[in-house]
Amino acid sequence: MKVQWYPGHMTKAMRMMQENIKLIDLVIEVLDARAPLSSRNPDIDSLAKNRARLLILNKADLADKETTAAFKAAFEKRGFTVLSLDARKSGTVKALQASIEKACEKKILQNQKKGILNRPLRAMVTGIPNVGKSTLINTLAGKASAKTGNKPGVTKGKQWIRLNAQVELLDTPGVLWPKFEDERVGERLALLGTINDDIIDRRELALSLLRVLLSGNPQILSERYGIMTDGTDLSDEKALYEILCEIARKRGALLKGGELDPDKAASALLDDFRAGRLGALTLDAPEEL
Ligand code: G4P
Repeated sequence: MKVQWYPGHMTKAMRMMQENIKLIDLVIEVLDARAPLSSRNPDIDSLAKNRARLLILNKADLADKETTAAFKAAFEKRGFTVLSLDARKSGTVKALQASIEKACEKKILQNQKKGILNRPLRAMVTGIPNVGKSTLINTLAGKASAKTGNKPGVTKGKQWIRLNAQVELLDTPGVLWPKFEDERVGERLALLGTINDDIIDRRELALSLLRVLLSGNPQILSERYGIMTDGTDLSDEKALYEILCEIARKRGALLKGGELDPDKAASALLDDFRAGRLGALTLDAPEEL
């Protein structure tokens, strides 16, 4: 499934981030734990050059735990500080603060060597849309002791949230745009709901999801919808469509005349997946890193 999308306002968002990143020591990059590779924008590596880095595998509550642990280990091997998280939970603030401090350790030492002692490190949250950047900032801000005022060089209206004596966080996230160069990336981001559903054929997307489920976790369809799918040929479009109709039947998704409504079933299947009602699932594989 091919996805092409680049809304105009993203250019402005990127420009704003390039401006703000000049003031930043620590870049906190938020990824969706269900697709830590597809939800990364590789441009961040050049944008955040010479900055301390922290990767957040967010929405870990919706991702397969073992795969999240494997991704964490793989990213750590590449030198990142990594934390998997449910950013909605205020109980995660302690772990977050510890990871922020760990990620900044080297920078603090460097500053000390240079004789810079009293300047707090400045952090910014970045990531593609819908990964949970605002949620993370709100969770951190909720626990922060104080908000500091505007500072020169930062777009007017922005504030720094003081996390502790050593770190301040910009209250506005840096928005990156996903890269759709690989067809699979577009499809996976569409499955996660990152891409506006209006530009996507939901039925086609639901068939892609069925392919993903049948190849890795076929039991999910019997558990959730009571549908047996043994022996389904994944390349058989008609067979997949039949499964969608079966979901429509089980869920009572009907058109006015009483006919089955596969589009309604497609929406129900996608919504169930996105809300985690099909269980904890990860779309990317650590071997793809
Ligand atoms: P963004 O700034 O990166 O665009 O993302 P944002 O924080 O707006 O979060 C996008 C959606 O993801 C929100 O749901 C938010 O509640 C949810 N979310 C954020 N972090 C987590 C997490 O760790 N786990 C889970 N399960 N969900 C998370 P929404 O449906 O768009 O809004 P709402 O109905 O929750 O208000």
